[in-house]
Amino acid sequence: MGVTVIVGGAFGDEGKGKVAAYLALADKPEAAVRTGAINAGHTVTYRGRTWKLRTISTAFVCKTTKIFVPPGALTRIDIFLKEVEETETRGRVWIDEKTGIIEERHVRMERENEYLMKVIGSTGQGVGAAMMERVLRVLKLARDFPELKEYVTDTVAKVHEIIDRGGLVLIEGTQGTFLSLYHGTYPYVTSRDVTASGILSEVGIGPKKVTDVVLVFKAYWTRVGAGELPGELPPEEAAKRGWIEYGTVTGRPRRVAPFNVEWAKRAIMLNSPTQIAITKLDALFPDAKGKRRWEDLPVEARKWIEDLENQLKVPITLIGTGEEAEDMVDRRRDVFGPQ
Ligand code: IMP
Ligand code: MG
Repeated sequence: MGVTVIVGGAFGDEGKGKVAAYLALADKPEAAVRTGAINAGHTVTYRGRTWKLRTISTAFVCKTTKIFVPPGALTRIDIFLKEVEETETRGRVWIDEKTGIIEERHVRMERENEYLMKVIGSTGQGVGAAMMERVLRVLKLARDFPELKEYVTDTVAKVHEIIDRGGLVLIEGTQGTFLSLYHGTYPYVTSRDVTASGILSEVGIGPKKVTDVVLVFKAYWTRVGAGELPGELPPEEAAKRGWIEYGTVTGRPRRVAPFNVEWAKRAIMLNSPTQIAITKLDALFPDAKGKRRWEDLPVEARKWIEDLENQLKVPITLIGTGEEAEDMVDRRRDVFGPQ
């Protein structure tokens, strides 16, 4: 029980969406909150169906979980309403009265900004422009739009009511540590602090309430847009290894590199995780595909995880082995059993 925070350890697209969905199915939180904005796309596949979500937490797959969009988040009305439909969460989804609303003009402002689009490689979703207006205190919030009326509430009060009763709250961050406005590879970063502390601030929870911080890494690293990617591989080498990916929101090909232990250690320093999740282990060890028990993983895969754990000095508790939300080795306990 308590508060679990899911945070990206690299450049986004580590598989936070899948980890949030898995933890929702395994731990059945009473509420899930997704921070960040619509520039981030989280993918979840559950029982053969895939959703690509930009504002609603992938934890919605647990049908008893209440879904919140917090005050520090930014969304677009059309995207929010479309995702409520797609996820069939009407009646258990709320948006905070203070959530920032992105409008068409923010998207235009960004797309017309050559520095953002060409140099930084922004996703061009209007998030930075809306953040700018928020800092200038002219941005409109969810409470200003009648079409959101039935969904608007004080999510902070609701979340704390659950925490105080001893319920479990799952918080899903967006992007990754090195895209943080403060701690990332500035200026090649996003427009917010996406580390664990920034995530908490967006939700309105103090650090003492947190029980677990799950730092998510992919077994290999990817980056879209400009900026340093340590150990970047040429595209031909990435293809040979089967590590080709495309952005969820923009469709751009992702740049690729092997796992970087030194940068991972810095991400640990910045986020104080209690646990680490490694996704896509099956990309390194094809025989790991779909496995749900530690003892069913190939010996080399287990060794790779154990070596990494020794170097990082944080328990690796969750290991993703396939697209399905339930394709996860959970070393905390055996939840779904063998496939
Ligand atoms: P912006 O935040 O959309 O302006 O993009 C700034 C930088 O962050 C660009 O390099 C984007 O590719 C990157 N970025 C923003 N959101 C995501 C995400 O969800 N996943 C991966 N990269 C992202
Ligand atoms: Mg993504």
